[in-house]
Amino acid sequence: MLENTKDMLEKAKNEKYAIPHFNINNLEWTRFILETCEEEKSPVILGVSEGAKKYMVGFSTVAEMVKAMIRELNITIPVALHLDHGSSVASCKEAIDAGFTSVMIDASKYSVEENIQMTKEVVHYAHDKHVTVEAEIGHVGGEEDGVADELAYAKVEDAVRLAKETGIDSLAPALGSVHGIYKGEPKLDFERMLKIKELTNLPLVLHGGSGIPDVLIQKSITCGICKLNINTDLQIVWAKSVRQFLNENQVVYDPRKIIKSGEQAMKNMIKEKIYLLRSNGKA
Ligand code: 13P
Repeated sequence: MLENTKDMLEKAKNEKYAIPHFNINNLEWTRFILETCEEEKSPVILGVSEGAKKYMVGFSTVAEMVKAMIRELNITIPVALHLDHGSSVASCKEAIDAGFTSVMIDASKYSVEENIQMTKEVVHYAHDKHVTVEAEIGHVGGEEDGVADELAYAKVEDAVRLAKETGIDSLAPALGSVHGIYKGEPKLDFERMLKIKELTNLPLVLHGGSGIPDVLIQKSITCGICKLNINTDLQIVWAKSVRQFLNENQVVYDPRKIIKSGEQAMKNMIKEKIYLLRSNGKA
């Protein structure tokens, strides 16, 4: 069932676990994720970046594919279709109009004032259509700009302003995680995380969820993280399996066989993540 993130994140917040957000890149990934989450009876958030939207021919193509797949695979778990890192108000509106049930407006590169203004505009448009909104404060770095530094961490007072002045449903504060592969151990600021959780009372989102040691993920859940964004870890295991399959099967040329050769590795990783996020912050 396609729904927004309100109920699933509230429940996760109250019961102290986290919902997995897996990025989708194509039809097969969507299927592997939906089938595994259904098997494990885990609610899931399917994240679509603007790059993935372009690759998959637009928000409508993605929304119609996901809706049809939910029907044809008889998926019964709650599924949210979420725009990941929407870079403009227009992009968020386009995703909402196409049928997305949740959007992230990432105005973190702008001033706090501008971030609040843009986020408010998205919330106004989204809530009217029962769509939930996530916003970012501070800046989650990535391979593109190196490991997170002190400047990128969210300021507690800015996080509180963004939460209180916009009416968002979830908040992604930069707390030391980065997108992609870590150079060294991530330095998550749990004190700041807890403070932001207590002062905003919102479900918190941790971006850059790949490559963070399990104990740190579990501790994050006890400090208010209710949604973990995962992309790179799935890409790595999928690519490794496909590479091995191609090396061992030099004459194969059917793209269905090639893409499918990463299915089991990906499904195993999805299960591992589900178990980790369910473990209520206990090691
Ligand atoms: P990773 O690619 O590091 O898992 O991050 C995913 C993410 O945060 C998407 O928003």
